[in-house]
Amino acid sequence: MPHHKEIRNDADLSVPAYLLLQGKVILLCASGGIAVFKAAGYARKLMEAGARVITVMTENARRFVSPLTFAALTGEKVHYDTFDDSDAHLIPHISLAREADLMLHLPATANILAKAANGIADDLVSTLYLAYSGPVIFCPAMNPMMYSHAATRDNIAVLRARGHEIVEADFGNTACGEKGQGRLACWEDIREAVIRTLTPQSLKGLKVLVTAGPTQEAIDPIRFISNRSSGKMGYAIAAEAARRGGEVTLVSGPCAIPAPSGTRLVNTISASDMAEAVSRELDEADIVIMSAAVADYTPVETSGQKMKKGADTLELILTKTPDILSGILERRTPEQLVVGFCAETGALEAKALEKLARKPVDLLVANDVSEPGAGFDVDTNRVLLVDRDHNLEKLPLLSKEEVAVRILNRVEELLS
Ligand SMILES: Cc1cc2nc3c(=O)[nH]c(=O)nc-3n(C[C@H](O)[C@H](O)[C@H](O)COP(=O)(O)O)c2cc1C
Repeated sequence: MPHHKEIRNDADLSVPAYLLLQGKVILLCASGGIAVFKAAGYARKLMEAGARVITVMTENARRFVSPLTFAALTGEKVHYDTFDDSDAHLIPHISLAREADLMLHLPATANILAKAANGIADDLVSTLYLAYSGPVIFCPAMNPMMYSHAATRDNIAVLRARGHEIVEADFGNTACGEKGQGRLACWEDIREAVIRTLTPQSLKGLKVLVTAGPTQEAIDPIRFISNRSSGKMGYAIAAEAARRGGEVTLVSGPCAIPAPSGTRLVNTISASDMAEAVSRELDEADIVIMSAAVADYTPVETSGQKMKKGADTLELILTKTPDILSGILERRTPEQLVVGFCAETGALEAKALEKLARKPVDLLVANDVSEPGAGFDVDTNRVLLVDRDHNLEKLPLLSKEEVAVRILNRVEELLS
């Protein structure tokens, strides 16, 4: 009989992407730098995340990319003329300023930073800045000399002190052939800044400790026992908690995904490393979310040398690892809110209630990892939430990003 390997293909699971920017109106203000071409792509990505994107361009931005490009990508009229009288009822800078949830300067030239810092209003973009009272993000991009110039640094400091967010430029090769800081920030950083700015800061002032990923229990220097956890669920929770203003520490086992922006990453390898890291961080935390898939057993002995192939069979003796969640429950204060996870195969409700009786967490997130699209190493999850009062909430198959939103909504309800 042929050997069949089960292939779990995310693409087969038609779960619509969770639109983090659904219903938001973003005024994308582009000023005249090379990076305007990147802004056109980012405008499209913002729309794919659910936002309506209205582009405003400076005269110089239009020298780099045609307004037609933005109009075609966003499906919206592009504005650049303060004195546009095509609609007799509307003054462009007033009507646009009223509509927007966010003003995003992408890219921001040294010139627009200087004009905004000093309140100069000599074109539509700079006039709009003064006419707008909502949140503003600047994403500067320029030659490294211009970026490090004291005038630019002072202007950035003024804008930051005014409460605006600055997504600092990246280091690397710039279009002008120089190396240094000045490249437009990457999409992920800009996306997170936009989402964070538009998310109510409901976890502000709270410290959130999240564990994620698998652990690796070494057999010898090159072999280990691990599991299929990708870390995606825990990383999504850490990202969402940071978006809500939480001060997030992410204690992670070995994962192949980057730490979400705005979180502090503590890397660990084995279950005992993770237990130690959690123990160090625990007392500080207001909310503790244990989503890591921690090994239950670890080899009694780890060989210092690569184990050679020998006999036909090999026995490994394993011993129990520290039970991190039990340790937390022994030490927790009544003010701390603890969320536990359990991954089961079948009879989910009964197993979840049984685990809650043994480990009285405030919220238990249970999933059946044998179900298609749920659990390890996929982008979706189907979970059952059971709270300390045994209220059950069965969520449908959702993206892990949306599951994170639902979990944190429940956490906030339990906090209040
Ligand atoms: C080829 C070229 C590339 C430029 N790239 C940038 C840039 O990336 N960032 C920047 O601040 N200025 C850049 N400039 C200079 C600006 O275009 C110039 O300061 C202009 O006055 C900005 O006008 P605006 O802010 O109204 O769009 C560039 C100029 C040229 C000719």
